[in-house]
Amino acid sequence: MTLILGIETSCDDTGIAIFDKHKGLLSNKLNHQKLHAKYGGIVPELAAREHTRMVIPLIQRCLQETKLSIKDIHGISYTAGPGLIGSLMVGSVIGNTLSYICKVPAIPIHHMEGHLLSPMLKTPSLSFPLVALLISGGHTQLIFAKKIGKYKILGETVDDAIGEAFDKTAKLLDLPYPGGKSLSLLAKKGIPKQYIFPLPMTKKKGLEFSFSGLKTFAANVIRNSKKNKQTKANIALAFENAIVETLIIKCHRALNLTKCNNLLISGGVSANQKIRTKLKNMIKKRKGKIFITPTKFCTDNGAMIAYAGILRLNNHKKTNLEILVQPNWSIEDLLPIN
Ligand code: KG4
Ligand code: ZN
Repeated sequence: MTLILGIETSCDDTGIAIFDKHKGLLSNKLNHQKLHAKYGGIVPELAAREHTRMVIPLIQRCLQETKLSIKDIHGISYTAGPGLIGSLMVGSVIGNTLSYICKVPAIPIHHMEGHLLSPMLKTPSLSFPLVALLISGGHTQLIFAKKIGKYKILGETVDDAIGEAFDKTAKLLDLPYPGGKSLSLLAKKGIPKQYIFPLPMTKKKGLEFSFSGLKTFAANVIRNSKKNKQTKANIALAFENAIVETLIIKCHRALNLTKCNNLLISGGVSANQKIRTKLKNMIKKRKGKIFITPTKFCTDNGAMIAYAGILRLNNHKKTNLEILVQPNWSIEDLLPIN
């Protein structure tokens, strides 16, 4: 039995999980901070305070559910970056304090590696090399992974993250925050080809993304259109289709460049059904393998951090109680797992 307690507090979800190397995920608790909804976006100071309020009760609930004591845990992994500094500090302080009390390692985890490894919560082995498409509220990245821990960023967004574009467009359509999921539900009722949106950065060569222009395009279309439900659904569909088409073009390009046919998709936006289906079909045609994160682990959660902790437990160096967080940590700076 090797038990890791995972702590995720990088943004607006407090996620706690206990993962056993042999038995798998034993407990997974989440508090999604609803208090930001009325501001239409995350307020960092409120996020940090809410993590402080929730982190211990959620750890207690995981321990109660598994009938374990904190003394039974063999290591504590926590998200050390990238993310909001105040939020990261909460997980780091709690993780390091528990590690000191229990005399077990505290393992700093890279949030995006957590996302990248999350398909393994269901499928324990990945086929390398692979291209990972990480799409969330804070990130949009194409990564070439030679093996676990050896990553090269092929391209990322030059402005808004893809989830941000979903959320901002959803807000313009009067949908609640965070709006990605509700926008794609609304899109299901849309009539195709009523609006044609541009496919940003697809004519230019390269693997960079840009979503702020698409959001502005959506804002202009919404301003100049009727405000009824059907029109809104038509716009949501056109917006979602533009995003999906853009992702397909960029993934094809990344796979051609790296001469590889294996694709992994993860991050909050990868919960989107159309993105999942279209990319699955694309990889089928290329005769490659696709690794898709189970929907319940797409958005931020403690399970992915506990799982990364299991993999990184042995490679871990003692940190002398340093409470380090790295809000701008690059995934390229990680060390490969032996
Ligand atoms: O990974 P995540 O929980 O947070 C970050 O690390 O940023 O991702 C949250 C993002 C939000 O922008 C949310 O609107 C988006 O994921 N999202 C979706 C869907 N479900 C969540 N976007 C599109 N379609 C969905 N079904
Ligand atoms: Zn995330």
